[in-house]
Amino acid sequence: MKVSVIGAGYVGLTTAACLAEIGHSVRCADNDEAKLNMLRSGQMPFFEPHLEEVVSRNYEAGRLQFESPETAVTGAEAIFICVGTPPLENGEADLSAVANVARTIAQRTTGYCLVIEKSTVPVQTGQQLKRQLQLYAGKGLRCDLVSNPEFLREGSAIQDFFHPDRIVIGVERDEVAAQLREIYRPILEQTFKCPVHPECMHTEKPAWIVTDTNSSELIKHASNSFLAMKISFINMVADLCEAVGADVTKVALGMGMDPRIGPAFLNPGIGFGGFCFPKDVATNAGCDFSLLKEVENVNKRRIAQFVEKVRKELWVIRGRKIAVWGLAFKPNTDDVRFAPALEILRLLVHEGATVSAYDPQATEKAKASLPDVRYCASPYEAAQDAEAVLIATEWEEFSNIDWDRLRRIVSQPLIIDGRNMFDSTDLISHGFHYISIGRQPAFSTDGASSIDPTAELHSALK
Ligand code: UGA
Repeated sequence: MKVSVIGAGYVGLTTAACLAEIGHSVRCADNDEAKLNMLRSGQMPFFEPHLEEVVSRNYEAGRLQFESPETAVTGAEAIFICVGTPPLENGEADLSAVANVARTIAQRTTGYCLVIEKSTVPVQTGQQLKRQLQLYAGKGLRCDLVSNPEFLREGSAIQDFFHPDRIVIGVERDEVAAQLREIYRPILEQTFKCPVHPECMHTEKPAWIVTDTNSSELIKHASNSFLAMKISFINMVADLCEAVGADVTKVALGMGMDPRIGPAFLNPGIGFGGFCFPKDVATNAGCDFSLLKEVENVNKRRIAQFVEKVRKELWVIRGRKIAVWGLAFKPNTDDVRFAPALEILRLLVHEGATVSAYDPQATEKAKASLPDVRYCASPYEAAQDAEAVLIATEWEEFSNIDWDRLRRIVSQPLIIDGRNMFDSTDLISHGFHYISIGRQPAFSTDGASSIDPTAELHSALK
């Protein structure tokens, strides 16, 4: 099928590359000519595992092209709208880019095409889109509007595209569902060569859910908001655990065994970040969904609470040398939009700490918004002479740290883990004090009495 994808961001570029990979002829468009040139020369505008290889394979095979929106919409059988909907001051989504695309489609397209809304938009945007298309249509455009929300996660976007749990579409006429089914047939039937795992055995077929457009849009928002709620819930349970001397890891394990609850998204920490959760929680179409306001409040408090943990251990933050590991809002991405790590860095810098930071991928993007930080090339370089090492993103690389090496270079053996990556017994055995979320602090008795007032007593008892 001749498909155009408007917007070459996280969702658009992934969608375009993956649709080409399953055999469609795809034109991927963006307003940013520099980005298009970058893509034509084989460079990716952001880091996403496996994306580069899927883009270059399909670009070289001529199945994927990069163009302006004006040219890309002409002659397309299906147009996916994947432009950004960034949050406005009040937290709601800015839909101006979506409206501009609607106008471009209306003015440039003739004949019949499918217009598929994939950008994350508030409920009833599809209806507005339809109205805009009718209003501006000049050359006899006939189109059907489809809502097809995207559930892919940054960091595993390619995997999620090929192996989704469900594909949801919202249509106004049943016949349109059949056309969408055709576009997604290789995914629905799981008949493709998986670019993530060539020997892929994961062939479970995704659910195919057809609804009206409002319900489809709401499925996306309700899903994201529910996940955000799960995170804020477990974060509150973590606070409770700290207050009563329980262990949140064990509580989450026990809760997650109940299939009605499930184990996913019960990892407490410094809160959710990223581009979608904060915005989704804020959008509620005029209903007083106050539960979600509280989800947001709990999330906002995580940052200050984490910095309080740091203060509790270091007493004074001004003048302290602090290392922060992780800048991206989650691992396997270089996205720092609404990253809790950056908020923590901002507060530490504001309080006068000397901060060194390391992230395997996100340094360049973090530098742009926070220049007053020393960015390092390795976790060890960041930790040199540090009085505390803070973990803000759970990159796999940090699981393979040589603790003995780290112990030799830090000035104080203190790890404050905002993502509960480690086992306290292990860290204590390497001479570190370990503070995490929703678990009891663990102090080493191994030559670190300057931090733990009870360490001398523990040593004496040993
Ligand atoms: C989220 C949804 O998971 C996707 O289904 C959706 O398509 C996407 O938003 C979107 O609307 O674009 P994403 O933002 O990529 O995906 O990342 P998640 O894996 O959902 O994580 C979001 C945040 O929650 C991260 O900061 C992560 O660290 C945090 N998180 C996640 C926790 O703090 N605890 C958890 O247990 C899980």
